[in-house]
Amino acid sequence: GFAILNGKIIDRSEAKVDIEDRGYQFGDGVYEVIRVYNGKMFTAVEHLERFVKSSNSIGISLPYKTAELSGLLEKLIDKNNLQLGIIYMQLTRGVAPRNHAFPTERITPTLTAYTKEFARPDESMKTGVKTILTEDIRWLRCDIKSLNLLGNSLAKQKAAEAGCFEAIQHRDENVTEGSSSNIYIVKNGVVITHESNNLILKGITKDVILDLCLANNIPVEERTFTLEELASADEVFLSSTTSEVMPIVGIGDKKVTEGQPGPVTKKLQKLFQQEIE
Ligand code: PDD
Repeated sequence: GFAILNGKIIDRSEAKVDIEDRGYQFGDGVYEVIRVYNGKMFTAVEHLERFVKSSNSIGISLPYKTAELSGLLEKLIDKNNLQLGIIYMQLTRGVAPRNHAFPTERITPTLTAYTKEFARPDESMKTGVKTILTEDIRWLRCDIKSLNLLGNSLAKQKAAEAGCFEAIQHRDENVTEGSSSNIYIVKNGVVITHESNNLILKGITKDVILDLCLANNIPVEERTFTLEELASADEVFLSSTTSEVMPIVGIGDKKVTEGQPGPVTKKLQKLFQQEIE
């Protein structure tokens, strides 16, 4: 297959980065995961805007116009003949002798991207998934989609070791988000999810879901909710680019919605399905 390295589409096996790339040494960079359905990027503009926002917030300026980048990604999808999958794209500050402070000389940021075939999680979307709870030990700029994913990775590993799909993170009593997803509860018909501030990533899928709620008279509250509210919720679900609207049917040893996806979750799955057709 093919990959993008610094604006060029080249053979995947030729795409190599220097050992002193700051992304490799410091996690000094940002990334995006974009869904591809039927050979087309889903919510491409939103992802590209977030990519620019993330990179600007750590002082890296994207050396391409977003339209240019979007065209390049479309070409990559074509060349790799991708119908259903994802694009992974990342931008690092670039290559420089190791020093925590940014290099004083201008360096070119390293842009890489590749595609991967990735089916929709049809089976789990029907049955729902199990989760565990874990303390959110990450930094205070979780709104930046940065390459520093150690906290997320440790949380996901804990879930994996417990045979679970996702770890639900909380800061003391407050639920923040999953290790790679946003978390929602439903109580008395109201969808509740953490407000988009510095403690969570503002999911593109979250924005799609909140718009769907608005358009379909499903009441929404974007606010912090507690572990207690999570435990007594009628329904719980998560969302992400790869997981779409995913029912949560277990948290630790506790069953949610009697181990079945709930009605509001199923309604949102149906509405989301219509968005991607
Ligand atoms: N993860 N929160 C975190 C911490 C995430 O890493 C992600 C996405 C989300 C959901 O965002 P979106 O709906 O825009 O995908 C929330 C991607 C898919 C990943 O790291 O693979």
